[in-house]
Amino acid sequence: MSRILMVTAEATPFAKAGGLADVLGTLPAALVGRGEEVGVVLPRYSSARISSSQRIWNEMPLAVGPHAFVVAIDQVIIHGVRYFFVDCPPLYDRPGLYNEDGVDYPDNHIRFALLNQAALGVARNIFRTDIFHAHDWHAGLLAPYLRANFALDPTFFGAKCVLTIHNLGYQGNFPASTLTELGIDRALFHPEGLEFFGRVSFLKAGIVWSDAVNTVSPNYAREIQTPEYGFGFDGLLRTHAYKLSGILNGVDYREWNPETDRHLVARYSASNLSGKRDSKLALLEELALPIDSRRPLFGIVSRLVRQKGLDLVAAIAQRLAGQDMALAILGSGEPDLEDMFRSIASARPDKFAVRIGYDNAVAHRIEAGADMFLMPSRYEPCGLNQIYSLRYGTVPVVRATGGLDDTVDEETGFKFREFSPDALYAAIGEALTAWQDREAWEARMRRGMVKDFSWEVSAARYQELYRSL
Ligand code: ADP
Ligand code: GLC
Repeated sequence: MSRILMVTAEATPFAKAGGLADVLGTLPAALVGRGEEVGVVLPRYSSARISSSQRIWNEMPLAVGPHAFVVAIDQVIIHGVRYFFVDCPPLYDRPGLYNEDGVDYPDNHIRFALLNQAALGVARNIFRTDIFHAHDWHAGLLAPYLRANFALDPTFFGAKCVLTIHNLGYQGNFPASTLTELGIDRALFHPEGLEFFGRVSFLKAGIVWSDAVNTVSPNYAREIQTPEYGFGFDGLLRTHAYKLSGILNGVDYREWNPETDRHLVARYSASNLSGKRDSKLALLEELALPIDSRRPLFGIVSRLVRQKGLDLVAAIAQRLAGQDMALAILGSGEPDLEDMFRSIASARPDKFAVRIGYDNAVAHRIEAGADMFLMPSRYEPCGLNQIYSLRYGTVPVVRATGGLDDTVDEETGFKFREFSPDALYAAIGEALTAWQDREAWEARMRRGMVKDFSWEVSAARYQELYRSL
């Protein structure tokens, strides 16, 4: 048994912007189920959904360079996992997690540097740690703080660091002038260290100083070592390839299961699909689309960001409108993408229904009510929605990249490789043709529904990784 302390900016059910939160809401419990002791450190955002917590540390003085803070630590225990919330109102008492109206908070480097210092404080005072497990750039400074600032501190002797990259597109790069503010020794600021083209890079720091690095699918672990997917880090990742691996995410079938889903009007399973038809009719009604169960309904639930390749959907919207199909979209993100989808829907409300915003219940109802699910991502480290779709019998049509390629195959879905509107349109065409043969279609749905992507296997892989350290 090891004591593992995870550090993250998001975790369900407390604070979520994307799949990172789903992973931090489920992997820790799976590890506890396998005998590990697990803590998770995250900010106490004012928006965090915390029903009741216990204050377990009143005043913990911490420093980020010249900035002094006194934080408190609140604890919530779920499924045996100790979630430690860092209470620091001057930094976290804001409406957003990272930004407001699309503009990043100017002190994000301090906000997340403090999170790492707080994690070290929790390890020192509350939860003696064998393995620090950092997630994404927000936790990138943990390893250099541990290896440089606290190198001689016996509290941490023997502790190891794992970094999981959920998305290489977010690197946490800040001006060189922040070095002093972050309390980082200038000696670390060079291209083999945490400098990235003259800037301080949190993610690079994590990659360089962690003992092991992984991404969230085997395919993405390979892709990020190429210039096409490396975001400028491909050389760095090839240098550190000896400690780089890919471990596919699992999903939480307690939350995402059509047999028990409390957000649906009717529940269903691979052996009884009638509830899926009812879910579709209810969704069409909810979204004010023409009620026609024979017309195939595509679904999209997504952050509206460039990564997700939704510009391809916009590029073929006219052509799709000419087909016998409908498309339901739920998403929020970049204002220009939001506007683009709003205008597509207002031009053809009989074909396209668009909900701009974040709504977990609607996300579940689209997963259940749609016949097919679209994910034309430019890149996709793992992707969870296509895995949910498989379980809901909602056939995924995906770009063959990253985790999408690892989780969807010709037996369960449709894939296209080239990132182009024509390639997406061709894959949709293939799906529409296949839809005509009801029996074969239902067989395809069932093959997806019985696939098992639960955390058991993936949690065991993380345990092997911890043991190897
Ligand atoms: P990413 O983490 O890149 O956004 P994933 O597929 O890993 O992509 O995870 C996305 C998660 O966020 C899923 O749980 C999905 O249901 C959820 N999600 C994304 N956008 C929305 C939204 N607008 N409303 C509700 N849930 C959303
Ligand atoms: C990121 C990725 C997504 C992945 C999620 C959880 O947000 O974009 O592909 O599933 O993290 O690891």
